[in-house]
Amino acid sequence: MTVVGAADVDAAAARGVLQVGARDIVTPLARERAREAGVEIVVATPGAAAAVAGDRATPYPSSPVPASPVARPAPAAARVRVEAAPPPVRPPSGALFRRGAPLPPAVRPGGAGPARGTTGRVVVVGAGNVGTITGMRLAEADVFAEVVLVDIDEGRAAGVALDLTHTAALCGFATRVRGAGTVEAAGPADYVVITAGKARQPGMSRSDLTSTNAAIVGDVAARVAVTSPHAVVVVVTNPLDEMTQHAWRASGFPPERVLGMAGVLDTARFQALAALDGSVRADRVEAWALGSHGEEMVIPLSRASADGRPLGPGVDAVVDRARGSGAEVVGLLRSGSAFLAPGTSAARMVLAMAADSGEVMPAAVLADGTYGIRDVYVGLPARLGRGGVREIVELDLLPDELSALHEAAERIRERVGRPAGDAA
Ligand code: LAC
Repeated sequence: MTVVGAADVDAAAARGVLQVGARDIVTPLARERAREAGVEIVVATPGAAAAVAGDRATPYPSSPVPASPVARPAPAAARVRVEAAPPPVRPPSGALFRRGAPLPPAVRPGGAGPARGTTGRVVVVGAGNVGTITGMRLAEADVFAEVVLVDIDEGRAAGVALDLTHTAALCGFATRVRGAGTVEAAGPADYVVITAGKARQPGMSRSDLTSTNAAIVGDVAARVAVTSPHAVVVVVTNPLDEMTQHAWRASGFPPERVLGMAGVLDTARFQALAALDGSVRADRVEAWALGSHGEEMVIPLSRASADGRPLGPGVDAVVDRARGSGAEVVGLLRSGSAFLAPGTSAARMVLAMAADSGEVMPAAVLADGTYGIRDVYVGLPARLGRGGVREIVELDLLPDELSALHEAAERIRERVGRPAGDAA
């Protein structure tokens, strides 16, 4: 599998046809360039592609599902396996964040899709700033019947929900927004976004939050497993990679239904920062933020481009600033941490799944042996569908990029293995 970029389209311009493999990722920029240049993108052998997907001897997950502390119905894995079936005939999109690119028209606000605002429920646990933005983006998408904000401060959940409801005519959505004090009161959900937990304060690392947030996330995940046994859970609480793995264990869910939001945020930050000099639009920067949501963040520059061209000489500083962006915002706010980009990122992941888009997004997922990493949650490119993670997608990385990814996985593994409270 390779990523087909704008440069590949340019190279094929004289022939007028670009052949790609069924598992290749064709970037949005490449599609656009192909349209402009009149180059037809042809998938080599769709039949073979179906065979490849079907042949996957060890479909994700390859790891055993941990013993669940709570009862849960069994059929979940089967449900996901069905969705891992043959890929679409057209090349799957590698679209990440380009405006207009990622979501099919059916789920765009104002789009002509069926069931606008009429199906499904998303529960957002934690009605703090991140939960509020997540709920707002989800409601505005006008895709779901209901978005429920849950907070131990029930009044806050209800207040934010009502405030958001008041924007329905302004923003054009029919999604109901409700507040609740518990996940049980919220009711069964298709998607659950866990934002609950303490946020960082200036001077704190994400790991400083481990013991406090592990208790909250573990409790929420176990209760979600009972109330919403078929849900897909997106974890936002920090420290992200560790909390995602913790939520997976506490829920007893198969790993394809528990993933963490971080790579989408970190990639978006890199894109925004790379565009700050005005040389390119942020949504024309392509990049992947993998590894950990923290010090071991890996942004492979061999896979990064701006308008289809390699990034300029200042790119290392952009990587460093993206890696430190969370702390930079914490320092400026002086109380609490970033919420606009994190909430928007979490909502983007849920919307991609609800649309069964097959989009590939960087996410904290349980490594399944791809990239030579196994049995630890780490940021990797994941193809998302209605049932969560369809597969982990392998990008061609340079040896030093791959070893940085291995290093990230090992550091996360160490932290997950440490007793809570011993995280500094
Ligand atoms: C950040 C927090 C959400 O990166 O981890 O801003």
